[in-house]
Amino acid sequence: MANDFSGKREMWSNRWLFVLAAAGSAVGLGNIWKFPYIAGENGGGAFVLIYLSCIALVGVPIMMSEILLGRSGRSSPITSMEKLAEVSKASRYWAFIGWLGVLAGFLILSYYAVIAGWALNYIWLSGSGGFSNIGASGAEDIFNNFLSNPWQLLFWHSLFMIFTVLIVGRGIGKGLETAVRWFMPLLFILLVILLIYGFQSGGFTQAVNFMFDFKMDVVTTETWLIAMGQAFFTLSLGMGAMMAYGSYVPDSANIGSTVIIIALLDSFVAVASGLAIFPIVFANGLEPGQGPGLMFVTVPLAFGQMSFGSLFGTLFFLLVSFAAITSAISLTEPAISYLVEKYNAQRSRVAISLGVFCWVLGIGTVLSFNHWADLTLFGRTFFDSVDYLSQNIMLPLGGLLIALFAAWKIPGELILEQLGISGRYGLYAWRIVAGIIAPLCVALVFINTLFPEVFEAINRAQKG
Ligand code: TRP
Repeated sequence: MANDFSGKREMWSNRWLFVLAAAGSAVGLGNIWKFPYIAGENGGGAFVLIYLSCIALVGVPIMMSEILLGRSGRSSPITSMEKLAEVSKASRYWAFIGWLGVLAGFLILSYYAVIAGWALNYIWLSGSGGFSNIGASGAEDIFNNFLSNPWQLLFWHSLFMIFTVLIVGRGIGKGLETAVRWFMPLLFILLVILLIYGFQSGGFTQAVNFMFDFKMDVVTTETWLIAMGQAFFTLSLGMGAMMAYGSYVPDSANIGSTVIIIALLDSFVAVASGLAIFPIVFANGLEPGQGPGLMFVTVPLAFGQMSFGSLFGTLFFLLVSFAAITSAISLTEPAISYLVEKYNAQRSRVAISLGVFCWVLGIGTVLSFNHWADLTLFGRTFFDSVDYLSQNIMLPLGGLLIALFAAWKIPGELILEQLGISGRYGLYAWRIVAGIIAPLCVALVFINTLFPEVFEAINRAQKG
């Protein structure tokens, strides 16, 4: 497996291990924690449907592009891009994609570790029976008290970062495979238990309506940007993580069908998480748009009322933490594989330096929830800013460039060979999907958000 970057390149032992690893990267806090809360903040229904269409129209072609480039380059994303730019007689500057990705990975990991730290703390809280019959306001108090204490947040943030560095530093071989093989199915089972609970909680119909009613009036230009950013985030796209994993995919695996399986798995977990969490929200009169605390208030509340709730609760947060670790690993992969390959550096040293860097940056996120809560830039706290910049700007920008490169720059024969298709029409189809539709969607959303006047002018012209 993908653990030894210095010697001969290893491969995933088969396509399914790649599917598991890629799904391990994709399924994480983005699905269970983030998706429900941003769907809540953006009014539900329309957001969810826009998000799912972004997965299909933009996410799938871009993931295919990343894997295609990774498998052709067979190196770290930066080196792969350098090599492919040369083969394709394109500008060396395309390697910028790789650098942008490394930076985005740093930013994301810095806050990802803080939130994953919350989940670690909740394993502990749940196990010690802290959630038994707490009620809605009790659940909110526990969460708010925790957030107001920077030292506690820092402690759990540090612990998660240490785990990540240890795993990444030792090479992710066996551990990652075993983790995804066992924990992912278990996570599905616990989500189903929560779903059943939600189903009989009295808030299920309301939750389904909330998630799937198409309320166009709450859609703004921001909604599109946020939905697209979330599609990138949840599929781990736009920063080279999938490119790095793709570099170990055996030549025989079919990229298209593999990507569709990963996208379906990931969307399933996101939608199931929403359907598990929103019934609890409505049955208890909680606020769906309450933000990052959503999962940390609703899930303890539900498990607190079940028999064996402490046990299930502990297990749930344990699995969320595992899902977060398998994602965190992939966030470091582009940077680590590059440094190891380029400077022949020791993997463990690189992992430690990178971990320290992200840890320091993460302190800003820790403070965003207490001392720095009122310190804002354009109305965003430190955490919101890092999150917005990485997820809504850097990932889509990276993805846009990746798709354009994979559709128009590399030689047609390479594309056909990689995708396992043949003939001129296959190539046209690929270029239309990855080279026109996906980048156009990303570009429109960008223009729409950054320069809303353009679209307003078009609207006016049509009416007038
Ligand atoms: N996809 C992961 C999640 O949903 C997070 C993640 C892992 C990620 N690797 C990434 C996001 C690379 C963007 C890019 O939690």
